[in-house]
Amino acid sequence: SKGGYDYFMLKEIHEQPTAIRETLLRRLDENGKIKLDDIKLTKEDLEKITKVYIVACGTAYNAGLIGRYAIEKFAQIPVEPDIASEFRYREPFIDQNTLLIVISQSGETLDTLAAIREAKRKGARILSITNVVGSSVARESDDVFYTWAGPEVAVASTKAYTTQITALYMIALDLALTKGTITEEFYFDTINKMKELPEKVERILENAEDIKKIAEDIKDSQSAFYLGRGLDYQTAMEGALKLKEISYIHTEAFAAGELKHGTIALIEDGTPVIAIAGQESLYEKMLSNIQEVKARGAYVISIAKESKKEIEAQSDRVIYVPDVDDILAPVLTAVPTQLIAYYTSLIKGNDVDKPRNLAKSVTVE
Ligand code: M6R
Repeated sequence: SKGGYDYFMLKEIHEQPTAIRETLLRRLDENGKIKLDDIKLTKEDLEKITKVYIVACGTAYNAGLIGRYAIEKFAQIPVEPDIASEFRYREPFIDQNTLLIVISQSGETLDTLAAIREAKRKGARILSITNVVGSSVARESDDVFYTWAGPEVAVASTKAYTTQITALYMIALDLALTKGTITEEFYFDTINKMKELPEKVERILENAEDIKKIAEDIKDSQSAFYLGRGLDYQTAMEGALKLKEISYIHTEAFAAGELKHGTIALIEDGTPVIAIAGQESLYEKMLSNIQEVKARGAYVISIAKESKKEIEAQSDRVIYVPDVDDILAPVLTAVPTQLIAYYTSLIKGNDVDKPRNLAKSVTVE
């Protein structure tokens, strides 16, 4: 049941603190170390791995983009993310030293399954992240990480996404410690910071209803844009997918640095631009990109860390998230994007949980 919420999507958005907590805490042992029971990759296995692909569709792919950053940064292994429907047909280079990380909430997405089969045939090792115990993806993989998000009913994926990112951070930390590319101090420090994420998400959700005002402002727009740099760009891609799939507003994400290479031509008076500024290291660059779109008349909604109040001067509206390390910021900045999509769809009178033309699980090509 919807537990008192109007739609499953809103319920699932609000379940994220619990879902993230469960995903994390169920895999910490008595010493606070990550224990990946169903992942049997040894140090020797890892040393052989020369290539990592992350393969998935839709929101799960967007989570994989965040995972790429974490694995490259922590474990210093090059990672190539790919969309399952592309990966399976492009004859990617795969051998026995390839690790394929597959992400699928349902564990039943046809293209994702086909990618597993193709990679397996060529000798790759398959590590999957899925939310459904005993799903096809889980059964066909060598190693499995279950996200403990609980059933996700709404077509628009929310708690699956933030728990997939949590899973990817844990896998990245575990791989990195095994490989010796991070110190124990960094490892435990990051886990401790991750433990604070559920409470930080809770704080964003306390002000969820404020986002209704933003939904009112953008609901009649023909198009909207999400803009970000680095990990914020990946969050922008997920935010854009969410908004388009349930509000039916044409939404695109773009890397802020690409503005001058074409996209800025689309900015007119009043065009909504949702600017994600959650990366400390790229903050100043984002501010100048915000100024650029503002100067062309964009209606700017910024998503920023709460210590960054000066962003108000450049923005029409600001949604704050608690301060957090850059690498973990995607878990927080995603939440306002989910709420923007939810309230816009709701105000437009759409069927939020069952958007037109879409199915929860895509088991056909
Ligand atoms: O079950 P899966 O994670 O394999 O599903 C992948 C996509 O179909 C899914 O994430 C889709 O993009 C969602 N509707 C996005 O909200």
